[in-house]
Amino acid sequence: MIASVKFDKTNAFKKLKSHHKTISKSKIKDLFEADKNRYSKFTLKFTDFVIDYSKNNITGRTMSYLNDLAVECKLEDAIQAMFAGEKINVTEGRAVLHTALRNRSNTPVIVDGKDVMPDINAVLAQMKTFSEQVRSGEWKGYTGKKIKDIVNIGIGGSDLGPVMVTEALKAYGKKGLNVHFVSNVDGTHIVEALKDLSPETTLFMVASKTFTTQETMANAHTARNWFLETAVDPEYVKKHFVAISTNADGVAAFGIDTQNMFGFWDWVGGRYSLWSAIGLSIACYIGFNNFELLLDGAHQMDLHFKNVPLKRNAPVILALLGIWYNNFFNAQSHAILPYDQYMHRFAAYFQQGDMESNGKYIDRDGDKVKYQTGPVIWGEPGTNGQHAFYQLIHQGTKLIPCDFIAPANSHNPTGDHHKMLLSNFFAQTEALMNGKTKDEVVAEFKKMGKSAEEIEALAAFKVFEGNRPTNSILAKKITPRVLGSLLAMYEHKIFVQGIIWNIYSFDQWGVELGKQLANKIYPELQNDEVIASHDSSTNNLINTYKKWRK
Ligand code: F6P
Repeated sequence: MIASVKFDKTNAFKKLKSHHKTISKSKIKDLFEADKNRYSKFTLKFTDFVIDYSKNNITGRTMSYLNDLAVECKLEDAIQAMFAGEKINVTEGRAVLHTALRNRSNTPVIVDGKDVMPDINAVLAQMKTFSEQVRSGEWKGYTGKKIKDIVNIGIGGSDLGPVMVTEALKAYGKKGLNVHFVSNVDGTHIVEALKDLSPETTLFMVASKTFTTQETMANAHTARNWFLETAVDPEYVKKHFVAISTNADGVAAFGIDTQNMFGFWDWVGGRYSLWSAIGLSIACYIGFNNFELLLDGAHQMDLHFKNVPLKRNAPVILALLGIWYNNFFNAQSHAILPYDQYMHRFAAYFQQGDMESNGKYIDRDGDKVKYQTGPVIWGEPGTNGQHAFYQLIHQGTKLIPCDFIAPANSHNPTGDHHKMLLSNFFAQTEALMNGKTKDEVVAEFKKMGKSAEEIEALAAFKVFEGNRPTNSILAKKITPRVLGSLLAMYEHKIFVQGIIWNIYSFDQWGVELGKQLANKIYPELQNDEVIASHDSSTNNLINTYKKWRK
């Protein structure tokens, strides 16, 4: 069992509070001046990428206090408890074992007295066979044609991971096999997705852990109707629909042959499920070997997280830096900025990963916390973001710690594009740290021949305070293995923060309320009766909708 430690009552917290008073007066660029070894001191190398966290407002002392915080919050015990299959998801009474899904060492992992590895390996074997059949054309549709389009129907964790990975690894995608994702209950999503597809060559993957999620079930039924409009015979459904779920009864009730069901288990959290059968669309698209490399990469990071001392542990360091800004500098958000167009859904993926995990105000004792927990996670790929929101990061009133991520090698080395991209990647973190002083601005203006009045009028607008913290993650290339490691690193970062904030990171009760209320309102929309059972705003909105709808 994970011990409850009140984060803000620890000795380390107190030390960090007073240390913050000193360090907030220092400038990151001066820390570089003072220590020529700063880069090597604050950089970690992990297989094919480096994590440079030297451009942060930290000293050796900061890192040492942060490490003390992790120790005092009993992080090491918590890490071991997760890997050992203890039921650390207490409010749902479940173990948390996405790490077992990628346990390539195949060492036993025991849950309720049973090793879960044989079941995991059996589903992986089923995924291998199926993905190879689909890719080779051996799996045929009802008219004998091979599959050209896969449509994954799922939402949240049953969508965002496969979307993000198939995009990030598009360079490995099979030509002639397209993947599409339908998540939103807005009919536009499925209608647009199916517009150019043929029922003869389309395979639907209905991905839902519970197989009860309203959006997914609605989309799955619409997909089946669309398919049967052409195929007519319900017998053909089994050639075009597979299910990925923990709920065999629900799958059978929907009419999908349970032979075509890929299972997983309640100890796989939705937002941590891309490593399970939920990754079937990934395996079909990039090939099972590449899917295994993704698992391998994640496993390497798992071993690092489990075995390397906290002081050199990548997810731990990133988590502690996040806590440093969140709880001591009052930063409200954290930006993830990949300089890789293929990774354009990476930040969106971790929006769920992080915010659904650590967006909680009740601690492990059931008490309301008196400190900030999970930050707002956001971001877009560079350089697009530079022309959209970087203004606020550079000169806004909010402190926004950022992770910059880039590959040294592009999958598409066209002309000088990658050098241009990377020069922006390097320039941004440097500019965010150094800023631009008034003297520099004045000197620049003088060189341009501006008058003293012009300089006086404009200088203040051109000054950049700098001192904006960033992490730089530079990879050799975004391969399946590297992506797997990066994903696992961020997952574990979230875990570490949840432990230190003393919250339960693996439930999501906050999502339930909206679901319950929507289910209550849905029947009220079935007729034209005037509604009076809600507050006046909700009543009037519903009644206006009823009046306006055709
Ligand atoms: O958003 C809430 C949530 O429960 C997520 O955790 C999950 O990823 C998503 O809904 C989808 O759930 P399911 O896979 O059961 O359809």
